[in-house]
Amino acid sequence: MRAHVITFGCQMNEYDTHTIQSELVAGGHELVSQPLDADLLLLNTCAVRGKPVEKVISLLGDLRKQRAAGREVTLGLMGCLAQLDEGRDLAEKYGVDLLVGPGAITDLVAAVAELEERRGAGIVERLRFDPGLHDLLPPPPTGLSGFLTIMRGCDHHCTYCIVPDTRGPEVSRPVESVLREASAMRAAGVLEVTLLGQNVNSYGLADPSLPRFPALLRMVADLGFPRVKFTTSHPMNLTSDLIDVIAEHPNVCNFIHLPMQSGSDRVLRRMAREYRIERYLEIVREVRAKIPGVVISTDIIVGFPGETEEDFQATLAAAAEAGFEQAFMFMYSARPGTPSYKHFEDMPRPLKVERLQRLIEEQKARSLRANELLVGTQLRVLVNDLSRDSRHAVGHSDQNHTVLVPAETVHSMGVVQVTVTSATPHALYGELEGGAHGGIELVMAS
Ligand code: 5AD
Ligand code: SF4
Repeated sequence: MRAHVITFGCQMNEYDTHTIQSELVAGGHELVSQPLDADLLLLNTCAVRGKPVEKVISLLGDLRKQRAAGREVTLGLMGCLAQLDEGRDLAEKYGVDLLVGPGAITDLVAAVAELEERRGAGIVERLRFDPGLHDLLPPPPTGLSGFLTIMRGCDHHCTYCIVPDTRGPEVSRPVESVLREASAMRAAGVLEVTLLGQNVNSYGLADPSLPRFPALLRMVADLGFPRVKFTTSHPMNLTSDLIDVIAEHPNVCNFIHLPMQSGSDRVLRRMAREYRIERYLEIVREVRAKIPGVVISTDIIVGFPGETEEDFQATLAAAAEAGFEQAFMFMYSARPGTPSYKHFEDMPRPLKVERLQRLIEEQKARSLRANELLVGTQLRVLVNDLSRDSRHAVGHSDQNHTVLVPAETVHSMGVVQVTVTSATPHALYGELEGGAHGGIELVMAS
């Protein structure tokens, strides 16, 4: 069939889409770049908060209209939503043909074949967590940056989070398979690899035959990528030896994404986050002491059920003390199926909105202050994109700052040295080292 995949949500989903596409091609299907040209349309969905689910529902509504107007298209729901009752209900309501969960990508081609055989006999469903998923080696990405999933699932069971239901228990990928894929990416000219997992730091913990994450990170760094990143880290599993690996390897990004979620011990306990805020701040201090210039980003949820003004103040204070350079901030979203949905009462939305705004204001000022300190300094930037208006070439620094330089000065994508000239809370603007007439200076080519 002529297939197209629409991706919602996180980087894990982007990686999975890449795998889905390679499975489709191996199964004899053709990929088309425009959704309207497809006769097999797959939605790789996200279920972590209400908002991404609403986006999927709105698209399903549009597609139902298109079908009513005569468009013939087979519709598949994949990703996290597909694994949940919520996804099954939507599939029935909107006439979805296929439900394939994030652990069952290997079953997609067979599911499409089954659907073609018994069209009209109901939804074809594949929801297992196939351990064989880890053995798939999708073709290397065509760009300069690529994702590489090293573990799937999560064993932490934070009370607000639906991920343990949608992605199942933690499974680490065999080290040979990780290194084979990383080597293929390197050989294909990828300059920046990002190791992905719901909680990369617990890589190998459940399997004595595997190395721990710091050792795996060292092995990948030694393959010679100019830049290696990883996400997401759980504070519980972030050990001193991981901090040491980052500090010792110039090509391991001086950047850590370390979700704090809340600054109040009472709320952390109700979230079933296994650390207390003092321990979290201790890790932050160690990271900052060992890795000069490091950027720490975080996830914070406001308005968790029962969060008092005092709890929220503790979050503001902890965020200030940690000095996060970047943060993703969310209003608590009650997800059906999670323990907090079952046991706690959601608080009024206006209160959540107000707290989120206050936190965002403070964070914006903090990010701006941190970025302004960089004006006049030089950063190594991997330029790999164009801004929407095409006026700037866009890239990221070794510390994960978004950096923009005038597009006309950049002749090809790659790693360049940039002098920062101005800052906003979310981005740095700069000029290529060597001046406006110097053109691109490739510090490191593939
Ligand atoms: N409501 C709000 N934010 C959530 N996250 C996960 N579940 C929820 C929820 N129910 C956030 C967490 C997590 C990030 C990926 O999404 O902060 O770290
Ligand atoms: Fe969800 Fe917590 Fe696991 Fe992250 S660590 S995926 S927030 S359960």
